[in-house]
Amino acid sequence: MITIKTALCKNSTRVMLLGSGELGKEIAIECQRMGMEVIAVDRYSNAPAMHVAHRQHIIDMLNAKELERCITIEQPNFIVPEIESIDTNTLVKLEKNGYRVVPSAYAVHTTMNRKLIRHLTSKILRIPTSKYQFASNYQEAKKNVKNLGFPCIIKPIMSSSGKGQSFINHENEIDVAWEKSQKYGRVQKQEVIIEKYIPFDFEFTLLAVSSVDGIHFCLPIGHFQENGDYKSSWQPQKMSVDVLKKAKKISKKIISQLGGHGVFGVEFFVYKEKIIFSEISPRPHDTGMVTLISQDLSEFALHVRAFLGIPINKINHYGPSSSAVLFGKNLYGNSISFSNLEIIKKNQQIRIFSKPKIYGFRRLGVLLDRSKTVQESILNSQNTANKIFIQT
Ligand SMILES: Nc1ncnc2c1ncn2[C@@H]1O[C@H](COP(=O)(O)OP(=O)(O)O)[C@@H](O)[C@H]1O
Ligand SMILES: [Mg+2]
Repeated sequence: MITIKTALCKNSTRVMLLGSGELGKEIAIECQRMGMEVIAVDRYSNAPAMHVAHRQHIIDMLNAKELERCITIEQPNFIVPEIESIDTNTLVKLEKNGYRVVPSAYAVHTTMNRKLIRHLTSKILRIPTSKYQFASNYQEAKKNVKNLGFPCIIKPIMSSSGKGQSFINHENEIDVAWEKSQKYGRVQKQEVIIEKYIPFDFEFTLLAVSSVDGIHFCLPIGHFQENGDYKSSWQPQKMSVDVLKKAKKISKKIISQLGGHGVFGVEFFVYKEKIIFSEISPRPHDTGMVTLISQDLSEFALHVRAFLGIPINKINHYGPSSSAVLFGKNLYGNSISFSNLEIIKKNQQIRIFSKPKIYGFRRLGVLLDRSKTVQESILNSQNTANKIFIQT
């Protein structure tokens, strides 16, 4: 029997979010809706999820001691990682001591490292991926880039949102790409993965929910990325029955290995009707923000429902939808305002993340739209997003 002890109970059901960004904020809201006590953790104060949590902790989550101390003080029933920059070895250790990590400490540990997840998917499960090599110093990178051929991409083995990534078209671009991978990777002296560039026809995210009643799928989500950061996403992404069938089969294979209950975002490329696995997040995916308007249970609601052990049954889709990211560009400061909101139309919604401080270029909100067709929806969300002013 599933029981929730509400937030005011002495021994309430407690959820600790490790990472408190905009995705964490939506998870926190879903936990609040279930009456649980929500503890938001991040390395800076007033992060988005902290606005809707009962308590907050500001710690360096890459520091094993600080992380363990925070978890043992709060004794959460569920530890829900929202970002990758966490000392995942601590989560593996604490899981062995009885803590519940969502979806599983092994999933969180393996997917935050491009080397570990490639080993599992490409080497062990024999799933098609881009051709790749690793390198731990500049000379090796140079040699392996030449082995793979141009164009290719260098990525730190631990990074997200396109940080430290470079496309390389020519030998004389290797220097700068190597420097960038070392500067923007999560830890110093980073190993890199070099991937052969795939001139894909389209890329998509398949959201899969692993739950007590099996693995369920949302309709595939198409997306457009610039500099490794997503700009817009839409649902459903059109594709052949065969490609979708293969994508589901691959997802099931990987998720069964990673284990645990929760939402997974599985990223794929499609090139000439061939499906190529790219990466997987053991948590709601940024491109999945479109599900805030497209489904009866968003990816965030599904995540919470899955880790609580409540059956998912059927996910109802409302129709063609899209999301357009609202960026703050060249803004510096901490008093951010959004104007011209009266232009938001019927069948549109906005989410404003309320990030405390911005430097330069950051994702600050998202405009959601539902229309008759996906094409119309992409145009409509983009049009409205373009007319919203963000100022400091
Ligand atoms: N091998 C590749 N070929 C073509 N495009 C790629 C390749 N790897 C990454 N990309 C592009 O860069 C984006 C970000 O890469 P990804 O590996 O998902 O990094 P992150 O972990 O930062 O999201 C992808 O969504 C895709 O648009
Ligand atoms: Mg990605």
